[in-house]
Amino acid sequence: MVYLTVILLNCLLCNINAWQYGASSRKYTGVTRAVARAPSTGYSIPHMQMAVPREDVDFGRVQTMSHFFSDVKRCIRERKPRVKKTKSQRPTGEWARLWRLAAADKNVMLVSVVSLVLAAVCDAAVPHYSAMALTAVTASDSNRIVTSIRSLVGVSMGSALFTGLRGAFFTVAGARVVTRLRDALFTNLLKQEVAFFDAHDTGELTSRLNADAAKLANVVSYHVNIIVRQTITATIGLGYLFVMDPLIATYTLSGLVFMSIMSWLNGSFSRWLSEKLQDEVASANSVAEQSLSLVRVVRAHTTEKTESKRYRVRLAAALALQETQGVAYGLTRSLSVTSGLLVTLSVLLGGRQALTAGRLTAAQLTSFLFYATFVSGATFDVGDQWTKIQEALGAGTTIFDLLERKSTLKTADTHNSNSAPTTAAHHLSPEGGSLDASAESSTAMREEESSSEYDNRIRFEGVHFAYPTRKGQKILQGLNLDLKSGEVVGLVGGSGGGKSTVLRLLLHLYDPDEGRILIGDRDVASIPQAELSQRIAMVTQEPQLFPISIAENIAYGLPEGCWTMDQVKRAAVLANVDSFVKNLPEGYATPVGEGGASLSGGQKQRVAIARAIIRDPAILVLDEPTSALDGESEALVLDALETAFEGRTVIVIAHRLSTIARADRIVVLQSGRNIEEGSPLELKEKPQGAYAKLLQPSSTLLPQ
Ligand SMILES: Nc1ncnc2c1ncn2[C@@H]1O[C@H](COP(=O)(O)OP(=O)(O)OP(=O)(O)O)[C@@H](O)[C@H]1O
Ligand SMILES: [Mg+2]
Repeated sequence: MVYLTVILLNCLLCNINAWQYGASSRKYTGVTRAVARAPSTGYSIPHMQMAVPREDVDFGRVQTMSHFFSDVKRCIRERKPRVKKTKSQRPTGEWARLWRLAAADKNVMLVSVVSLVLAAVCDAAVPHYSAMALTAVTASDSNRIVTSIRSLVGVSMGSALFTGLRGAFFTVAGARVVTRLRDALFTNLLKQEVAFFDAHDTGELTSRLNADAAKLANVVSYHVNIIVRQTITATIGLGYLFVMDPLIATYTLSGLVFMSIMSWLNGSFSRWLSEKLQDEVASANSVAEQSLSLVRVVRAHTTEKTESKRYRVRLAAALALQETQGVAYGLTRSLSVTSGLLVTLSVLLGGRQALTAGRLTAAQLTSFLFYATFVSGATFDVGDQWTKIQEALGAGTTIFDLLERKSTLKTADTHNSNSAPTTAAHHLSPEGGSLDASAESSTAMREEESSSEYDNRIRFEGVHFAYPTRKGQKILQGLNLDLKSGEVVGLVGGSGGGKSTVLRLLLHLYDPDEGRILIGDRDVASIPQAELSQRIAMVTQEPQLFPISIAENIAYGLPEGCWTMDQVKRAAVLANVDSFVKNLPEGYATPVGEGGASLSGGQKQRVAIARAIIRDPAILVLDEPTSALDGESEALVLDALETAFEGRTVIVIAHRLSTIARADRIVVLQSGRNIEEGSPLELKEKPQGAYAKLLQPSSTLLPQ
């Protein structure tokens, strides 16, 4: 009742706030609560990351009650099932999915549950022996005092022992579940296609790994523990009440049923709220991650306040949901306490009749009251933990979706089953074995394959492509390319014309929408990723390094223990890394910082080139490999690269003539097509040609 009064007062205050400040405070939640269903995964992702309100956010002005009512309405609307799903369409229940994670620790769980049951039985017996001791003390019966106190001490000690065991084992089980969950989630995230990461922020995903996983694991370590214990306690207690007096026990039970209904309703609402809340938390995390990782840009533009505001906006949206959660919890608690009071009143009134009718003695009535209070407390705890479990399962929905998500990229498997068996590659399993049942065709395939296995000819046949996150923008529109094995081809064209995209498709980071990309006779989609990355080494336009030493960065991706410092140094000398490493106090052991932040742009580029050369790839793809180098370093690196080009098929993208002048052939890309090609000399001599235009002094694209 007191709580209800507080809520009503809060409501009044909020209305005064709203009157004072107008509708401004709701504005930011309108922006931040905009969530959409990601088409590929079906779970919600936050949008409008950059939206920043003009006014700053004041956490004290969140309108708790109006949010509460609008959230209740949204929950009812969203939870209404529109189409009834058949059994096979329904996703596996969260409990079954959770059990699959916990099942590896069956033994720990078993000990936990046994300790739990024994602790609950001991706990339930404590009031019984307490009442017995009380009666014995009142009656000054020394024999019964000793027996009942001995029993009381016995069950209390049992309770202490098993409670300790229960706590320890459940904590261990929970810790193992959360570790296994994070490991499985991280491993599965790394298997997703690159397009998935175009649509999901790192901060959002790390939030799933941290906050959501911990919340879900709490179900095992904490909530199940309490809910099972209190259910046992309540059942034993209720049984005891029915044995003592079925009539008053029935009054008690109706109070408890009311309490349970309230908890169940709150549980369902909390689950819905929790899903939304975890999305908001993930989105706040994503803003923090972006701003902190780009702190140098933030400092350079003095946008600290804007970034803080962006974060605050997200926090406020999460806070609004938490406040709704608080109100719902408060209401449930008030109603539960009220029903507990009704239980006590009904026991007292019913007890009076039972005393008069001689069905109960005064001591029995005291014991009954003890148990009724005990049972309503346990029932309340069950409801409370049920709500927490629902919240955790709400948070777990996204985790389970992510855990079960399969990459949509065509793999060697899916490709084989989907495409016509015209080439050997179409029959390759991921391990490189034959999937075809016919031995004859396998032999034919192997012959065909062996001829193309080491053939590094690259073909793009009528390739159309748009990025999955931007389907409306066609990047490639029927691109045809044919690179002979061992040829060095320079790819040029305007900025944003799709040159880097060509390399990404060759590495099979995305599937083309139409057409084929072949290496030898094999479609890249049919080549297992490990084999593909062994055959192709790439230097990306913006070299990305790990925060490890220079030597480890150069050797990154080579099998552990299979490289030597000599190899690293040879690659480093070729890529002109050696010249600057000599001046570093820790030499090759120097850590490069996050993303290579403690190296210059040109130094990072050279380390990336060394990382590509050391792999001794059959195909080398270089995206602006020398754009950040000065003339002298560039000349040195280009000389080295020329040696590295020997015997390899090479695609090199460059805006500088010096880099592509050494190519055998130049291809000009425009509007997603190959519009011109030929040797650098041939193309220079076509005055009206696209390449010649790019070379004109007015063109900034290919400075001499
Ligand atoms: N991950 C992505 N998701 C959506 N669109 C993208 C993505 N990456 C690139 N784009 C878009 O695709 C187009 C081609 O980009 P690409 O990086 O291939 O150009 P480019 O020719 O290499 O340009 P530059 O010479 O400036 O490096 C651009 O319009 C770009 O905005
Ligand atoms: Mg590019």
